[in-house]
Amino acid sequence: MRIAVACDHGGFPLKKTVIESIRAAGHEALDLGTDSLESVDYPDFVEKLGQAIQRGEAERGVLLCGSGIGVAIAANKMKGIYAAICHNTYAARQGVEHDGMNVLCLGGRVIGPEIAKELVPAFLEAEFIGNKPGQERHARRVGKVQAIERG
Ligand code: RB5
Repeated sequence: MRIAVACDHGGFPLKKTVIESIRAAGHEALDLGTDSLESVDYPDFVEKLGQAIQRGEAERGVLLCGSGIGVAIAANKMKGIYAAICHNTYAARQGVEHDGMNVLCLGGRVIGPEIAKELVPAFLEAEFIGNKPGQERHARRVGKVQAIERG
C-alpha cells in the first residue's frame, strides 16, 4: 500500500520513525511534510493528506501533531477519512478491523519512537473484517457512520 504521512512541527520529530516503520513493513511512504520544527498550522497538512486519500494517491495515512488531537479533529471533517488517535496496538489494529479507520493519528509529544514503531505495523497489518461471514455488524455500523457523514 501507499501510505501518506503528514505532520506539523509538534509531530515532526516522530515523522522519520513513522516513515521508516512504513517502509520496514513493506509499504511505500508518501511524505507530505512539514519538514522542519518551524511552526505551521496542522489543518493545512491534514488537508493535503486527506486529499491524497480522496484522490486515490494513497490508501491510508498517518498524521502527527503534538497531541494527535488537532490532526484527528481536522481529518474527521473530510469525507471518506476515518481518523483516530491510537497510542496502543490494540486500538491501532481494531480501529481498522471494526471501524474502517484509514488514518492513524499520533502525538509526537505524547509517545516516543519505540511505541510508534509498534503502532505503525499494527495499523498497516490490519484489514476491515466487516465483509467476513459473521462479522456483518461492523459493516452495518460503519454504514451508519457514513449515513451520519452524508447528513
Ligand atoms: C502545536 O503547538 C500543537 O498545538 C499541535 O501540534 C497539536 O498538538 C494540536 O492538537
